[in-house]
Amino acid sequence: MAQQDIIDSEDLPTNLTQNEHFQDVVARATERRGFLKKGLGLSAALFLAGPLAACGGSSGSDDSSAGGGDGGDGGGTPAEPLLGFKAIGISTADTITVPEGYSAVSFVPWGTPLMAGAPAWKGDGSEDAAAQALQVGENHDGIHYFAIDGKNGEGEDSTEGLLVMNHEYCTTVGGGTYQWLFGPNHSPEDWDLDKAHKSMNAHGVSVIHIKRSNGKWDIVQGSNYNRRITAQTEMELTGPAAGDVLVRTNADPTGRKVFGTINNCGNGWTPWGTYLTCEENFNNYFGTTHADGDQRDDAQKRYGLSATSTGYRWQEVVDRFDYVKEPNESNRFGWIVEIDPFTPNSIPKKRTALGRIKHENAAYNLTADKRIVVYSGDDQANDYIYKFVSEGKFVEGGDNSRLLDKGKLYVAKFNADKADDADFLGKGEWVLLDKDENATLRADARFPNQAAVLVYARLAGDAVGATKMDRPEWVSVHPSNGDVYVTLTNNSGRAESNAANPRNENIYGHIARWRETGGDAAAMTFEWDIFVLAGNPNVYGDDDARGRAGSDNITKDNTFNSPDGLGFDKAGRLWIQTDGQYSNAGDYEGQGNNQMLCADPVTKEIRRFLVGPKECEVTGLTFTPDSKTLFINIQHPGERGDSHWPNGSGMPRSATVIVTKDDGGVIGS
Ligand code: FEO
Ligand code: CA
Ligand code: CA
Repeated sequence: MAQQDIIDSEDLPTNLTQNEHFQDVVARATERRGFLKKGLGLSAALFLAGPLAACGGSSGSDDSSAGGGDGGDGGGTPAEPLLGFKAIGISTADTITVPEGYSAVSFVPWGTPLMAGAPAWKGDGSEDAAAQALQVGENHDGIHYFAIDGKNGEGEDSTEGLLVMNHEYCTTVGGGTYQWLFGPNHSPEDWDLDKAHKSMNAHGVSVIHIKRSNGKWDIVQGSNYNRRITAQTEMELTGPAAGDVLVRTNADPTGRKVFGTINNCGNGWTPWGTYLTCEENFNNYFGTTHADGDQRDDAQKRYGLSATSTGYRWQEVVDRFDYVKEPNESNRFGWIVEIDPFTPNSIPKKRTALGRIKHENAAYNLTADKRIVVYSGDDQANDYIYKFVSEGKFVEGGDNSRLLDKGKLYVAKFNADKADDADFLGKGEWVLLDKDENATLRADARFPNQAAVLVYARLAGDAVGATKMDRPEWVSVHPSNGDVYVTLTNNSGRAESNAANPRNENIYGHIARWRETGGDAAAMTFEWDIFVLAGNPNVYGDDDARGRAGSDNITKDNTFNSPDGLGFDKAGRLWIQTDGQYSNAGDYEGQGNNQMLCADPVTKEIRRFLVGPKECEVTGLTFTPDSKTLFINIQHPGERGDSHWPNGSGMPRSATVIVTKDDGGVIGS
């Protein structure tokens, strides 16, 4: 979602609890090699005092700790460098820029006809709700390629698959004007039920059957797999909160049948071949037309529901989005939703066992005994990171359809006790959010049962003193050693730093990582580290008291702000996407348009790989199994009116971008 808008709701903390911040524990996490530039200031100095091995940006041999291999490059002979491409400079052009030897083409932009009977995109926003339901949605985000032979598991086909993607929201910068959905000349007075339904149909998920022939990817027209899931599609609430009084409404006294998924941000997938779509800023769709204004209860405030009006305006014409008329409807959003793309009529399942937060994405790992773990961040200033551990075990090729309905939910505490591993800074723990087993929750009247803990997971996190983070965005698990990385996009309002979030007024963001104890995703403890502090040497040189020059692995050549999308490829390259300030001025001078970079997790080197068009964010990434085709998404190009991407004229359109290497090689090699 747009970062540029200064009223981004994620920037405003709704967490007003007084959890322990890390200020007093930072000092204990000091004995660490230098990772900030010289001229250290306050919080920087706290990290530098230590006698531990120096390393920073170089690939010192002391960095090759257990499990640090790079996916197939193990062995005693020197492997090829992980990053094989020539880094590119910044760009402010209205185009996609990629390195020498690579090509990028746009694909399936908003409005592309997908379903039978869909009209061609008209280009003036005049399609009605019914037409939009048959076309690809707006503002592409999380994305995953399922090889066509991947039902029930990982497939291998790199020429035919199901491309599944999220459509997060409709561009509404500047007061909810829907400047593209209904065309640039849309008048706010012109609002009715069909317009609201069109907006709802531009949201959700697309399942797109694609095939490559003669080197070109195309939609398989007429395929039964092609599907649009929208804010009106029937879904089922499953797991411990399903049926609870908190999720029952006038229209659904069972508390199990929900219509729609909204603000589908990042994504995940499972080893049994299903897609996970994450409901993020669902709060922005709930307001009221009640004459007396703000009627929100404390939980609705903590989740950030709009007090009165909303930019999307659904509540004006659809009663369930008016929280006064239907107080529990918003409790039915904010979940991770599991979709089986290989079964076209399958009912998407909202998995309540994973908790209700503003889920950014969902990254899985398997425990040593094959239970599934799902990590997910809550993208709001000063909110938390969660992990779900299933009770049942994953059975390859078996029935895994209920695995996400039963298990335990934990929230992260990043403590400042010195890590035992020299490559890590501090220690951390997972705090169980269980009504019966956690004494704090047991004693709290706000949680009469486990359903309440899950529906109000944020409040449960507050109660147990979880660590306030700098807006957790995507989480990704290293393919061979299980280390978990998270983008902490920024937190310009932070006034009290802590060890894992060491900068006040963190305008550039950072990436943290942790390693579960014993390398087992089931562990209750972990050690954590900071992988990179983004910064801007163009403005702050290498000598800034607030750490704004960034960590050692930030240079004038790779500077960026607001890391957001994140994902590993099979070989262990870490791909970083930004949703940041694109002014290229002031604190952001020399950073250009939003971009995608690639990092070596061992050497910590970071190179810029791609730059997006004007006023966009770069988000979502997935590869074909052979790692030779990369799909990413460009969201909200021209959100302020200054882009004609990808068509070159007319309205800008969010779209997928297909990146290939001209020699047919592995992307990034
Ligand atoms: Fe949808 Fe936090 O990005
Ligand atoms: Ca994001
Ligand atoms: Ca973001």
